[in-house]
Amino acid sequence: MICHAGIFLTLDGAAPSYQITGTLETIGRWNAGGNEPVPANAHVWHDPARGELCTLSYDVEQQPYVMLRLIDAAGRIKRTVPIELPGLPTMMHDFMVTEHNVALCHGPVDFNWEAAMQGQSPLRWSDNERGSRYGVMPKDGDAVDIAWHETEPSFVFHFVNAFEQRDKVVFDGTHHAWLDFGGTSDEPTPPPGLLHTEIDLETSRIDGHRWNDKVCEFPRFDERHDGLATRYMYSPTTVGEATGFNGMMRVDAQNGETSTYGFGTYDSVGEPVFAPDPSSNAEDDGWVMAFVYDDASDNSHLVLWDAGAIEDGPTCRILMPRRIPEGLHVNWMPDP
Ligand SMILES: [Fe+2]
Repeated sequence: MICHAGIFLTLDGAAPSYQITGTLETIGRWNAGGNEPVPANAHVWHDPARGELCTLSYDVEQQPYVMLRLIDAAGRIKRTVPIELPGLPTMMHDFMVTEHNVALCHGPVDFNWEAAMQGQSPLRWSDNERGSRYGVMPKDGDAVDIAWHETEPSFVFHFVNAFEQRDKVVFDGTHHAWLDFGGTSDEPTPPPGLLHTEIDLETSRIDGHRWNDKVCEFPRFDERHDGLATRYMYSPTTVGEATGFNGMMRVDAQNGETSTYGFGTYDSVGEPVFAPDPSSNAEDDGWVMAFVYDDASDNSHLVLWDAGAIEDGPTCRILMPRRIPEGLHVNWMPDP
């Protein structure tokens, strides 16, 4: 669920989006002032430079496989950018918006309906020789204006944030070296980790490094920095002997410092969201919030950390009246 131009929306990449009220009553399909329902993947990006919203959806059967849509500051559709891609329909789960560009990750994850008809996973990790590529398109451009930059095969489900630094597009995201859809491989799947990547738009060179050896997914940041340089990232992670995400991690991109806090082995920590301190504009001044499920007691808590002191543990735990299933993709909207 997101809010743009005072409009509350529920998103589903495979179906039209719905407009709802602030008290969760359904209004109807969201057309963004146009004649057609607007599908939008769960990952949309606000563009603070223009006050716009940028959405992406993908077609799992036919070209154009990917559609970008720009929604203006009043919530009306401004532009649709169809993007045809070679090969099979591809899963493009997330994307990025910087000050002047939109950036896409075309990874080796395809939809294979022939395999699905034989009872296998419709998703497959395609031939590694294809590799991955990042496409960078000026915001006012079209598909023909996309500059593609090749790299080794890998997949990023979720980007933290992206920004421009001189001639580079810089971003962080959770990196999967490969994925075993359908569980058909005997090889263990490499766990995801937080990867920093820089694309030199002049030379097409791509450099990257993992921030640490922690396993993590569903990272977030102080979204007042949408499309701008970001120093702090927060993500669920595994602490100690647990097999799932039982802790929270903060990474400082200025010095690479990682701090963590872990709960018990049987606790599950969901995707966090950053709630800024309304009295401060400084990045990291606020709270990291997440639902934590305790399997032993079957209770869920909304847990808050001081964003700058994750390692000190929660500053607040609010017992939920009922169990909240482990989940992801949460957002924080102050009461208007
Ligand atoms: Fe997602």
